[in-house]
Amino acid sequence: MQTYTRRLGHQFSKSATSSSQPSLRSLYSALHSPRNHLRIASSRPTCVALIDRSLLSLKRQIFLSFVVVVVVGGGGGGGGGGGFGSQQERYGSTIASTGTGHIVRKGTGGRSSVSGIVATVFGATGFLGRYVVQQLAKMGSQVLVPFRGSEDSPRHLKLMGDLGQIVPMKYNPRDEDSIKAVMAKANVVLNLIGREYETRNYGFEEVNITMAKQLATIANEHGGIMRFIQVSCLGASPSSPSRMLRAKAAAEEAILKELPQATIMKPAVVVGTEDRILNKWARFVKKWGFLPIVGDGSSKIQPVYVVDVAAAIMAALKDDGSSMGKVYELGGADVFTVHQLAELMYDTIREWPRYVKVPLPIAKILASPREMLVNKVPFPLPTPAIFNLDEINAYSVDTVVSENALTFDDLGIVPHKLKGYPIEYLFSYRKGGPNLGATISEKISPENWP
Ligand SMILES: NC(=O)c1ccc[n+]([C@@H]2O[C@H](COP(=O)([O-])OP(=O)(O)OC[C@H]3O[C@@H](n4cnc5c(N)ncnc54)[C@H](OP(=O)(O)O)[C@@H]3O)[C@@H](O)[C@H]2O)c1
Repeated sequence: MQTYTRRLGHQFSKSATSSSQPSLRSLYSALHSPRNHLRIASSRPTCVALIDRSLLSLKRQIFLSFVVVVVVGGGGGGGGGGGFGSQQERYGSTIASTGTGHIVRKGTGGRSSVSGIVATVFGATGFLGRYVVQQLAKMGSQVLVPFRGSEDSPRHLKLMGDLGQIVPMKYNPRDEDSIKAVMAKANVVLNLIGREYETRNYGFEEVNITMAKQLATIANEHGGIMRFIQVSCLGASPSSPSRMLRAKAAAEEAILKELPQATIMKPAVVVGTEDRILNKWARFVKKWGFLPIVGDGSSKIQPVYVVDVAAAIMAALKDDGSSMGKVYELGGADVFTVHQLAELMYDTIREWPRYVKVPLPIAKILASPREMLVNKVPFPLPTPAIFNLDEINAYSVDTVVSENALTFDDLGIVPHKLKGYPIEYLFSYRKGGPNLGATISEKISPENWP
C-alpha cells in the first residue's frame, strides 16, 4: 500500500515539476491508468483518501481558474475598446467632477454596475420617460420613478433594470413633502412632466410652469442635486401662438433663475413607437379613411426620434459639466412640412393618401368647444384626437432648430433619419398585417384599390 502511495505521489511530483500545482491531465492519467485501477481495487481505504485529495485539488484548480477569469475579464472590460460583450466600450458618468456629494461608482459601466447616478425622473411614466429610464438603467444608474395614480403606470419600467435598480415611488405633485421624499436620495433630477392639453384638474400653467419651478426650488434646497435637466419643447417662446409653448418658455426662465446650472433640452415633435403624432394620424386614417390637414400643411417641423432625445439627455449627464447652464435644441435629421410627414406616414402604412384640407379658422372653431368647456362641465372631457386647439396654434408656424442654437452635434450625437427603422412601428397599421411587405414608398394605386 505504501509502495502504491509513493508511486502515485511520484507520478504527481514528476508531472508537477514545471508548475506548483499538479496538472489536471496528470491527475487524470494517474487515477485512470489500468495499473492504478487494479491497485485501487485492492487497496480501498487509501484509494478513498486519494480520491478525496484529488477532488480537493480539482476544486482548488477550478477556484483558481475562476479567480483568473474574473480578474482578467474585469480588467478587459474596464479597459474599454470596441467589440462585443465584455469588450464593448462602456461609459460611466463623470458626474463627480461637478457638484458636491459622495459618489460611489463600481463596475465597468453596464447595467449591473453602479454609475454613481441616482436619478429622480419626473414624468418617467410617459412616452419619452421609458427611453430615458432604459438608458439610465443601462449604464448602471439607480432610477427613482415618482408616479401618481395606478401602481401599473411605472410597472413596465421595473424590467429595465436589475432587481432594486428602478424604484417606483408614489407621490402627489401638489404635495411638497412628497416631492422632497422622492428627491431625498437623488443626485440628479430630470423633469419630463408635460401635457399638450388641459384637463379639469390641471391647466397648462400648473403642469408646465408651477411644477417645474417647484422642482427646481426643491432641488436647490436639497444641496446634493448635481444635475438638473428640464425637458422643454422646440418652439417654446414667450411669443408663441401656443399657450403650452408659452408656458414651457416661462418654465425655462424660472428654472434658469432658480438653478443657473440646469440644462434645458428642447426636442422637436418626438416620433417613436408610442408617439402621439404619426400613431394618431394613422389611427385616424384607418378609422375615417382620410386625414384632416390644417391649412395647406406647409408649416415646417423637424421631427426627432425618441431614442435620440434620450441619448442627448444621457450625453449631457455623462459630460464633464460642459452642458450645465445651456439650452439645446433637438431637431431630427430632416425638416418636413406637415404635408410631407403625412405623406411619409401614408407611404409606410401603404394607404392611398386622402386629405381633407381644413382652413385654419375653421379648425380653430372645431377645436374650441373643448377648450371652452373643459373647466365648466362637472365631468372629464375626452382627450382631443386631431383637433387640439393648442396644437393647431403650435403647428401654424414653422418649428425648426434655430441657426445659432446648441444641437445634437454639440452633444456628439448624430440624429437618426426618420425614414426607415424609427417609423417601422407604423407597419402595424398596414392592411393585411405588419408583415405585408417590408419596404417603404410603394404606394398602392387607387385603380387597384378593392
Ligand atoms: N412627445 C412629444 O412630441 C414632445 C415634443 C417636445 C417636447 N416634449 C416634452 O417632453 C416631455 C415628455 O414628453 P412625453 O411625450 O413623454 O409626454 P407624456 O407621454 O404625455 O408624459 C408626460 C409625463 O408627465 C406626467 N404628467 C403629466 N401631467 C402631470 C401632472 N399634472 N402631474 C404630474 N405628472 C404629470 C405624466 O404622468 P402620468 O403618467 O401620471 O400622466 C407623464 O409621466 C414633456 O415635457 C413634453 O412637453 C414632448
